[in-house]
Amino acid sequence: MTPTAPALPERTRILLDCDPGHDDAMAIVYAARRLDLVGITTVFGNTPLANTTRNALAVCELIGLDVPVAAGMAAPLVGAPASAAHIHGSTGLDGAVLPEPRRAPLAQHAVPFLIEQARAAPGELTLVAVGPLTNVAVALRTEPRLAGWLREIVLMGGSTDVGNITPQAEFNIHCDPEAASVVFAGGAPVRMVGLNVTRQAGIAQAHVDRLAAAGGRVGRAFAGLLGFYLARTRAVYRRDTAAMHDPCALLALTDPGLLRWQDTPVHVELASPALRGMTACDLRGLSDEARGLPGLAAPIAQVAVGIDGAAAVDRVIAELLACDR
Ligand code: RIB
Ligand code: CA
Repeated sequence: MTPTAPALPERTRILLDCDPGHDDAMAIVYAARRLDLVGITTVFGNTPLANTTRNALAVCELIGLDVPVAAGMAAPLVGAPASAAHIHGSTGLDGAVLPEPRRAPLAQHAVPFLIEQARAAPGELTLVAVGPLTNVAVALRTEPRLAGWLREIVLMGGSTDVGNITPQAEFNIHCDPEAASVVFAGGAPVRMVGLNVTRQAGIAQAHVDRLAAAGGRVGRAFAGLLGFYLARTRAVYRRDTAAMHDPCALLALTDPGLLRWQDTPVHVELASPALRGMTACDLRGLSDEARGLPGLAAPIAQVAVGIDGAAAVDRVIAELLACDR
């Protein structure tokens, strides 16, 4: 009797909306290996849309991943697009030369693609958004029923404490706070994985060295990418580890025991120039009785308030290494 491996846990069906970006690139590989990834949509953010789209296709080429990639919004709902070249470089994926993509993005825009994927299997698709939320907001505004078709939205963004792009705001939210406000109020179940936890999932030089030493094609590419990302993090934030932001949103689906959550209102600040893009949460844990007091908002999202950061990074690095086996 041939021994059979234990059945894989049922794989959550997801669509990944991203702005590759080094941590987005890790998220694409991790999602491909651990989840039922039905498609990738790209948005401006770490680098302009043309780069995020090319980078997503190049990561797919690197690992032989054949899922549709649809390009989305090139600018926020209000204002001009920002970028994070100071961290991700001029291409958005500096540090390694990835294979030239042989595939092109879909002719279809990311917004209708996203809506169609959700409509095709109501209640089954989880949207994981790890860039500015412009695509998601436009999709919710275009088709309000999307909120009911999605199983949930898990987003990397915001923070319950310090920011990164400003003292109070996290980059994805700050890129398009109006879009974030639409998403939190859109009616779909939302889980927010913010800087307050992702900064605890640190990629260290030892991880880079392990990828390089493994010698495989994917390992070598990510050693170059993450070596660059770590160097820029040291130069800008004077930290010895680089935050593995985006894969933390996927670990919420594959390894839920690694994160802890709290229900909370989330106010996205739009008006104050100094606080714009801040995600103000209420973690006081007040009783339902207190919630009746004036000025207290009802909970609107589950926010990650704890993570086993070391285990999180080990899970993702292990999947990068497994690509070469
Ligand atoms: O603030 C971190 C987030 O902004 C991550 O998603 C990173 O890729 C950038 O998009
Ligand atoms: Ca990102």
